[in-house]
Amino acid sequence: TILMKGDVKRQEFEALNPLLLSVYKKLIPPPEEVLKQRKFLTHLDRLVSRDWGGAKLFLFGSCANDFGVCNSDIDVCLSVDDEHSSKAELVMKMAGILRSDNMQNIQALTHARVPIVKFTDPDTGINCDICVNNMLAVVNSKLLHDYSQVDPRLRQLAFLVKHWAKQRQVNETYRGTLSSYAYVLMCIHFLQQRRPAILPCLQSMQPTYEVTVGKIKCAYFDKVNTLRNFGCSNKETVGELLTHFFDYWASCHDYTRSVISVRTGGYLSKDEKDWTRRIGNERHLICIEDPFEITHDLGRVVDRNSIRVLRDEFKRAAKILHQDSNPATALFEPF
Ligand code: GTP
Ligand code: MG
Repeated sequence: TILMKGDVKRQEFEALNPLLLSVYKKLIPPPEEVLKQRKFLTHLDRLVSRDWGGAKLFLFGSCANDFGVCNSDIDVCLSVDDEHSSKAELVMKMAGILRSDNMQNIQALTHARVPIVKFTDPDTGINCDICVNNMLAVVNSKLLHDYSQVDPRLRQLAFLVKHWAKQRQVNETYRGTLSSYAYVLMCIHFLQQRRPAILPCLQSMQPTYEVTVGKIKCAYFDKVNTLRNFGCSNKETVGELLTHFFDYWASCHDYTRSVISVRTGGYLSKDEKDWTRRIGNERHLICIEDPFEITHDLGRVVDRNSIRVLRDEFKRAAKILHQDSNPATALFEPF
């Protein structure tokens, strides 16, 4: 038989795919960890309803969005209707309640951009961050979760990308690289762009879920169990997808002009977003539009130095996936 160019490519990925899937499987939190998290959250819920009438807790971040690897911290949002207190004061009050319950390593970061209280539960060893009235994070976590239900390849791809980013130290917003949230949006956008597409654009479909948070209206199609076959005419494996993901960010993305947008399922220009100039510390060197807070660029943390680090890491990853004899090991090698 004559091998076509595409066949050679498929063979290249045939060896890679099982290796990557086994890395993915090791990252999935085991059932006992999920149980431990539930136990901790039940305890926290009881504590708050006992000591703070009218306050409610919501889970967000990787515990709620289906993109949590083993031993992730838990992100919780405290929702209270209190116009007279600042977020910092509410965080202080929460810290007091945690102290009376003997939680450990309690730190109230009242001056942060998003005030939070961090602590450790001595019974389970779980680390938890609580912020106040940040319902947009709860809603965008639901959006990510709903996307993950459409096609299993999103969760596989995102786990591998997050793991790679942590190992290579390019998942540190305080040092100018990208958040986990930004990486998951990059994965969703990438799968929206495959042909045939692997993911739809939920925000451009007839909304079945609508909430208003502050001034922002959030609406999208969330009956995702009806979309389980959406991507099935595309047969790409996670090995191929991860390789093309890094190829895209290494050499295809137009860093000068383009904005990726999960909200529209495509690209926008920096011109139309007015993200062409540096304003304050925001340089827009890599542009990732937040799906609901559309003036928000998740790449705003990236600076002249960290953009180079990031692009070099994308290139390194792409090169390894194409050329290395032991790609799964080299790719995730600690920096
Ligand atoms: P890991 O903790 O690394 O496993 O990932 P995570 O999914 O918890 O993501 P991350 O810690 O980056 O962010 C937590 C949540 O904060 C996200 O799921 C979003 O809901 C919310 N969020 C909203 N805007 C931002 C933002 O600008 N930066 C970050 N980091 N998070 C945001
Ligand atoms: Mg988190």
